Order: sequence, then C-alpha cells, then structure tokens
Amino acid sequence: MGALEGRVAVITGAGRGIGREHALLFAREGASVVVNDLGGSNAGEGADAGPAHEVVDEITAAGGRAVANTDNIATWDGAKGVVQQAIDEFGRLDVLVNNAGILRDAFIPGMEESQWDAVIAVHLKGHFAMLRHAAAYWKAQSKAGDQPNAAVINTASGSGVTLPNAGQANYGAAKAGIAALTLIAAEELDRYGVRVNAIAPIARTRLTLATPGMGALMAEPEEGEVDLFSPANISPLVAYLASEKCPLTGKVFAVQGGAISELAGWHDVKTIETDGRWLIDDIAARLPQ
Ligand SMILES: NC(=O)c1ccc[n+]([C@@H]2O[C@H](COP(=O)([O-])OP(=O)(O)OC[C@H]3O[C@@H](n4cnc5c(N)ncnc54)[C@H](O)[C@@H]3O)[C@@H](O)[C@H]2O)c1
Repeated sequence: MGALEGRVAVITGAGRGIGREHALLFAREGASVVVNDLGGSNAGEGADAGPAHEVVDEITAAGGRAVANTDNIATWDGAKGVVQQAIDEFGRLDVLVNNAGILRDAFIPGMEESQWDAVIAVHLKGHFAMLRHAAAYWKAQSKAGDQPNAAVINTASGSGVTLPNAGQANYGAAKAGIAALTLIAAEELDRYGVRVNAIAPIARTRLTLATPGMGALMAEPEEGEVDLFSPANISPLVAYLASEKCPLTGKVFAVQGGAISELAGWHDVKTIETDGRWLIDDIAARLPQ
C-alpha cells in the first residue's frame, strides 16, 4: 500500500519543476491529486493550461488519479476554487502543498512596485489564500464531528530564511513570511487536526536555471552519477509530511539532494539590561560590543 493511499491532495504550481515531482510521487503513492498550475512565465506573466494538463495525463496514463486546475492561486477566489475542486472531484481534502512560485529579482533602489507586488502576491498571499480556504473546510469538518487528519506543506526558501540573498528583497521577504505563517498556522490549526510544516528546497528547475551562475552549479550529472539537484529529490520529504502517520508540525526543513536539515528561527543571541529606561548614550556604549 502506498504511503498516501486514499489521501486527497492539492498541489499548487504542480505543472513544472518541484511541484510536478510532488504530483507524480503523490499519485504513485496512492493519493488523488488536484494538479494546479497557471502556466505563466518565470516572472508570472501570461497563462498556459498545458503544464497542468500534461502532468495529469502523465499520472492517469500510469493508472493514477488526478485532475487539472489552472486557477491563479494568488487571488482569493482562485485559491477557493482549487480547494472546492478537490472536494467536488474527490469528495474531500486531506493535504495542501503550497508550492507555486515566481521570481522578479531586482536590487532595492530599482525595484518596481509591480515586481514587489507580484512576488508577494504569488508567494505570501497565495500561500495564505490557499491555507485560509483549506483551513475553513477543515474547521467545518472538525466542528461537524469528523476530525481531520490533514497536512499542509508550505514552500519557503533559503533566500529569506537562512541566506539574505541580495536582489531578492521581495522573494526573501515573502519566503521569511511563509516560514512565520507556517509556525502560526501550526499553532492555530492543531485543534482541527491539521499539521503545518514547510520546506526550503534547492533543485534544478527553470526558476533556478534563470538565476545567473546557477546553471553551471546545478549542471546535469555525468552518466551514473547521483543527481544532487534533481527536483525529484525534494518530494519524498513532502510525501512523508503529508502522510497520515507523520506526527510533525510547526517545522521548517531545508532539503536538497540526500540531505534534510531542520531549521530554527529567530532567537535571542544577547541581552543588555539597565535599571529603568535606557539613555541613548548608554545603548551606544554597550550594544555594539
Ligand atoms: N528550485 C529551487 O532551488 C527552489 C529553491 C527555493 C525555493 N523554491 C520554491 O519552490 C517552489 C517551486 O519552484 P520551482 O523551482 O519548481 O519553479 P518552477 O517555475 O519550475 O515551478 C513553479 C510553478 O508554479 C506555477 N505558478 C506560478 N504562479 C502561479 C500562480 N499564481 N498560480 C498557479 N501556479 C503558479 C508556474 O506556472 C510553475 O509551473 C517555488 O515556491 C519556489 O520559490 C525553489
């Protein structure tokens, strides 16, 4: 029996790259999958129904269960439609994998409002909109006495979580926000039987190949070598986090090749104290030390 037998999953941005690998593995492991993908460019421009449908065709040809969805998850109604499609087509929803993403890199002084807004919309708002509609469904199930065993897997990034990546103020801020959203959602949704975790992956996809210097770093391996940058390396962790037996919640994992690392967030590294209110000069004398 597959690790995800009987589970119904929505995977956003599953027409290409890492999300496509999640969808293929989820289906092989017995899940019914809503393959969402708007099909736009790296920068999130345009739309193409092709990628979502091609993944669905691949899954169904192999005997799996999947349906395509081409809604824009960066909109409230688009996100609602994806959740509703899982319920309409497969009768329930157990797993949400928030994965859709775009890049519009620019250094801060030259960043356009549209570059900021689009990246925040797809990543941060898109994650929240999907989470919001799925959570409302799971809360209703729980209140009706049918306690869910549900899982959300968000997609953060080393950019913003472990690496302040110059040129990615929009993307890094969104990804750091997704890590924070993961921890808050894990706290809030536990009572409804929903676990929430996040990954920070590294893999060779059109998104990374478009980043200067990354193509050489992530080159295809020689014949017989392990492919450390295959996007398929990311999916087993996501499938595990999605599985009914997984106890984990409120975690963020870096994942690449054969390595999985648990990440930890902001914490006190030093404290200075005074009696009463600080004087600016005293702060200046002590804080930089
Ligand atoms: N590849 C990496 O090394 C890496 C590193 C860190 C984080 N990530 C994250 O992993 C996720 C997947 O990225 P990838 O590298 O596989 O890129 P990708 O471009 O191959 O796949 C992303 C998919 O998301 C879809 N998408 C974009 N906006 C959408 C929207 N509004 N609605 C629905 N679908 C939409 C795209 O059409 C695309 O098919 C992203 O969130 C990305 O930020 C990737």
